[in-house]
Amino acid sequence: MTKLRATITGIGAYVPEYILTNDELSKMVDTSDEWIMTRIGIKERHIIKEKGEGSSFVGSKAVMRLLEKTNTKPEEVDLVICATVTPDHQFPATANIISDKCGIKNAFSFDLNAGCSGFLYALATGSKFVESGTHKKVVVIGAEKMSSIVDYQDRATCPIFGDGAGAVLLEPTTEDIGIVDSIMQSDGVGRVHLHQKAGGSVAPASYETIDARQHYIYQEGQAVFKWAVSKMADVSVEMMKRHGITPENLAWLVPHQANMRIIEATANRMGINKEQVMINIEKFGNTTAATLPLCIWEWEDQLKKGDNIILATFGAGFTWGSIYLKWGYDGKDIKK
Ligand code: UT7
Repeated sequence: MTKLRATITGIGAYVPEYILTNDELSKMVDTSDEWIMTRIGIKERHIIKEKGEGSSFVGSKAVMRLLEKTNTKPEEVDLVICATVTPDHQFPATANIISDKCGIKNAFSFDLNAGCSGFLYALATGSKFVESGTHKKVVVIGAEKMSSIVDYQDRATCPIFGDGAGAVLLEPTTEDIGIVDSIMQSDGVGRVHLHQKAGGSVAPASYETIDARQHYIYQEGQAVFKWAVSKMADVSVEMMKRHGITPENLAWLVPHQANMRIIEATANRMGINKEQVMINIEKFGNTTAATLPLCIWEWEDQLKKGDNIILATFGAGFTWGSIYLKWGYDGKDIKK
């Protein structure tokens, strides 16, 4: 039997209209454009301001664009996975809500939480359903409303995060394209350095948790930074070795957009040039599970069939990993 691979056959994305600039942030906390640009590399981030809207707002818009671009009828989709750390509700899953908003009626759908590695984990998970032959049109989403858990009184975290969503369609192929390999790892010891203290079953919402500002992101930046720099590069270099990928035959690195310095360190360890790296952190900030699809979406028109691409992430958990794929189509022919 011919081996099936899962290949990305289209990408859609959406960022909310409102742009939060460094100058505006500087009026909210004691920070500056200069500090944020040199220490993180972010100029602005998009924020959901629409009242009563959550991650499914941006996620469903990304999926609608994806379905339209790929001429896919909602009823043809047979699996939807949404990676998010900011679900609309504790339950039901945001993937269920996005499916409903998009008219996807014949799919099973679920959420996946792997911090900033969520999209990569979801892509690997979705690809297995395609490879097994059981599912033919799998939608993988990264959707976040990070602004719902950012403390805009904490200068150490509030410049970092933004809202947005991206979604890809995975379909089977017997050609030499698609997702070739994935390395995914996690280590729960990292949870002490990056988490949300309250709102889960350990510390349900109470007056005390609200007074203590425990419903926001808690991050020990330096510890996370050290882990991220070494782990994201480790898995990317290992992926290159496994498949004989060299700096010369790698078309693109798609790294998680958490900090420009982490991205540069990863590229250096891989021995590649900045021109081979998709970087849009300056415009969108860290959109957690949405960073990878937002990059692929922006660079789609430059991608060529057969391009060697490595995706790499690091996030809360800790979770980290890399995926090696051969791009499936010439992006320049696609209407955005
Ligand atoms: O996506 C999930 C994974 N997350 C990450 O990968 C994030 C990894 N960590 C980082 O990117 C960086 O650690 C941060 C961007 C979070 C912080 O940068 P840093 O260079 O590690 O700064 P720091 O925390 O060591 O703080 C250095 C100084 C401190 O002042 P003192 O103690 O030296 O006087 C901070 O209080 O910078 C100060 N500081 C700020 N100053 C101006 C912290 N935040 C700000 C700010 N503006 N926004």
